[in-house]
Amino acid sequence: MSLQAYTQVNSPVLLMMLEVIVLAAGQGTRMRSDLPKVMHGLGGKPLLAHVLERARELSPSTIHVVYGHGAEQVRESFAGDDLHWVLQAQQQGTAHAVLQALPAVAPDAVALVLYGDVPLIAVATLRAMVDAAATDALALLTTELDDATGYGRIIRDGEKRVTKIVEQKDATADELAVAEINAGLLAAPAHRLRAWLARIGNDNAQGEFYLTDVVAVANQDATAIVTCHPQSYWEIMGVNSKVELARLERRLQQQHAQALMDSGVTLLDPARFDLRGQLQAGRDVVIDVNVVLEGSVVVGNGVHIGPNNFIRNTSIGDGSIVLANCVIEDAIVGRNCRIGPFSRLRPGPELADGVQIGNFVELKKSRVGTGSKINHLSYVGDTIVGKNVNIGAGTITCNYDGANKHQTVIGDNAFIGSDTQLVAPVTVGAGATIGAGSTITKDTPSGELTLSRAPQRTHRGWKRPVKSK
Ligand code: UD1
Ligand code: CA
Repeated sequence: MSLQAYTQVNSPVLLMMLEVIVLAAGQGTRMRSDLPKVMHGLGGKPLLAHVLERARELSPSTIHVVYGHGAEQVRESFAGDDLHWVLQAQQQGTAHAVLQALPAVAPDAVALVLYGDVPLIAVATLRAMVDAAATDALALLTTELDDATGYGRIIRDGEKRVTKIVEQKDATADELAVAEINAGLLAAPAHRLRAWLARIGNDNAQGEFYLTDVVAVANQDATAIVTCHPQSYWEIMGVNSKVELARLERRLQQQHAQALMDSGVTLLDPARFDLRGQLQAGRDVVIDVNVVLEGSVVVGNGVHIGPNNFIRNTSIGDGSIVLANCVIEDAIVGRNCRIGPFSRLRPGPELADGVQIGNFVELKKSRVGTGSKINHLSYVGDTIVGKNVNIGAGTITCNYDGANKHQTVIGDNAFIGSDTQLVAPVTVGAGATIGAGSTITKDTPSGELTLSRAPQRTHRGWKRPVKSK
């Protein structure tokens, strides 16, 4: 048991260890994909990652993942000392899946069974189930649905006690009319689960070993059966198709948007905002429509992000503005900078305070000093730009000779005229001026004007050719 679990002294689960079993072996035929179902992305990470995150919040001693379809791909994508991988080579039903994991579960632990394709389950709901199971009961997760089609139905007796669960395919007309459904997740003392599963057969419409049959067996043992309920129906929604995946994505994005707005972020349209990772935002942050944030994004106070921006793993300092249509990756942006519209920051740029990066400017692995401006149509790669530098329109750092990358250094207060090529490795001295249209191949001295430009000529009296008849 983890230290954290020990210190939660009020919870009855303390008396027992918790082990989680995640069922993730299903094929997911209806996804119509070569990717294993639990590897499909939701909010920027695989479905299974969401479930593992929820499980870890309960501080279990071990998380057993029952995997099968796409076995190696699933296993290789997840790391963790707390993960125990259990191969279910043939998927013979949910009971069979749990049985594969149970030999490795401590008999005196509570076993909590989760589904790898049910990603939005809330920790509070799981806690209630674990607490119930810790009183030596079988805890089920149920809810009432207007349309229960496809789900196992919860059958109760005259005293409202759960007597069994029937699967859709095995149900009578009366049973099909029941609105209370089985979400599938359950919790029970591991030694009981093991004893019940040993008594389950596969004599049913699908010829599978049904985990749901533990209910009838637990009743024979007179074990208490407790039903827990989710706060919201979304918690129990599984992903079986691309349509369901898209629905859960929208739901997750709504949750992100809601949490950000609650924390003071202005989202001009919460329905057109996508966070595929984490956003840490200061006060008075404004985010316009169609912004996609990936990985870890940190924005300071007063940052404005215009429409149609893609930003990944980036921090943006107080008061900076990102105008429309930029792509910004792995960047560090200082305070009071102005980026865009249409800027591309490829991985690695570091902008000091007050930097301006304008339209159709591409930066790659470059540092730009305080107050410097690269406002139009430029490529600046592998470059160190000093303070208060002005880089004119159409400046290109020629950083690649076809085999290797080379560095350009531009000193403080330099002025690079428009349409200049800086052939790296090259250094422009501090305060130097480069005349427009130059191709600079050698270091240029500080404080001087350098240019390489053919003299301008005029051919007096020259006539344009005319089309011959
Ligand atoms: C199951 C329940 C049903 C419940 C429904 C909720 C049973 C018999 N039925 O039905 O009562 O209403 O979930 O969605 O449990 N899996 C394996 N190995 C297997 C079979 C399944 O790992 O051999 C995994 C699947 O990947 C999935 C989960 O177990 O994550 C549930 O399996 P699924 O086939 O979707 O169960 P349902 O038939 O939907
Ligand atoms: Ca299912």
